[in-house]
Amino acid sequence: MLEGSRRWRREGLSIGLVPTMGALHAGHLSLIAEARRENAIVVASVFVNPIQFAPGEDFERYPRDPARDAEQLSGAGIDAVYRPAVEVMYYPGASTRVHVAGISDRLEGAARPGHFDGVATVVSKLFTAVEPDRAYFGQKDAQQVAVVRRLARDLDFPVQIRVCPTVREADGLAMSSRNAYLDPQERAAAGSLSAALRLAADAYAAGERRPEQLRSALQARLEAEPLAQVEYAEVVDPETFTSPGSLAVVAIRIGTTRLIDNHDLSMRFPG
Ligand code: PAJ
Repeated sequence: MLEGSRRWRREGLSIGLVPTMGALHAGHLSLIAEARRENAIVVASVFVNPIQFAPGEDFERYPRDPARDAEQLSGAGIDAVYRPAVEVMYYPGASTRVHVAGISDRLEGAARPGHFDGVATVVSKLFTAVEPDRAYFGQKDAQQVAVVRRLARDLDFPVQIRVCPTVREADGLAMSSRNAYLDPQERAAAGSLSAALRLAADAYAAGERRPEQLRSALQARLEAEPLAQVEYAEVVDPETFTSPGSLAVVAIRIGTTRLIDNHDLSMRFPG
């Protein structure tokens, strides 16, 4: 339990929670700004959650910069930071996992076995510890949003799930803590993600609705980038992550870095 939560609640103050894994950037700060607008109290959590990383993924090398995070958080006007140690979040021997069936096994879930169980488990524990009225998530991780919405509904968490738009760099690349892994050549190649989404959105705006045409436009643009290996390119329903739908979702690997992005094709691509 976060110290303060009970008192704020007793005093009738609304609490907004922004869950993060640190290495904060403008995407995270946009969630905090939205939480600030809608709540009396804003809590950010910073916890690199070991159980949402599959063996062999980047848990060890995930960027950690507590001093810089603290600076950014105090600049953003946070009321409290919840930064539990791993042994506090997961008591030795903790073996319970929250599994949101169906959606957790598709696309990101298929590529990263166990990932969404790790996310659903930690988000459940954060909701219990902070008891927020509202919790803020980024559209950048669209499938995570769908998992968390379902989780909150199915387990009756009395929390409103708020979703904020993806914050992008000038060339369209979605901000991500993992962008720090990219060397300049790889960084240039990462532009293919937003280029593919823009291309599909343009096709959709021009009247293209055939799922296979939209899908292959995404795929072809991603494959045109020699440094990128395409993991998936699909057009899905944003709640179930099955086809058909109008949410374009893409994942590529550039060197050892895995990047994802998405865009609702019924909207103009920004920029
Ligand atoms: P993390 O990757 O640190 O992201 C924290 C929140 O910031 C997520 O809701 C994510 O979607 C959002 N975010 C990341 N990049 C963004 C961008 N460019 N624009 C807008 N929002 C962005 O996602 C996680 O951590 C973890 O899975 C977590 C939910 C904290 C559970 O461990």
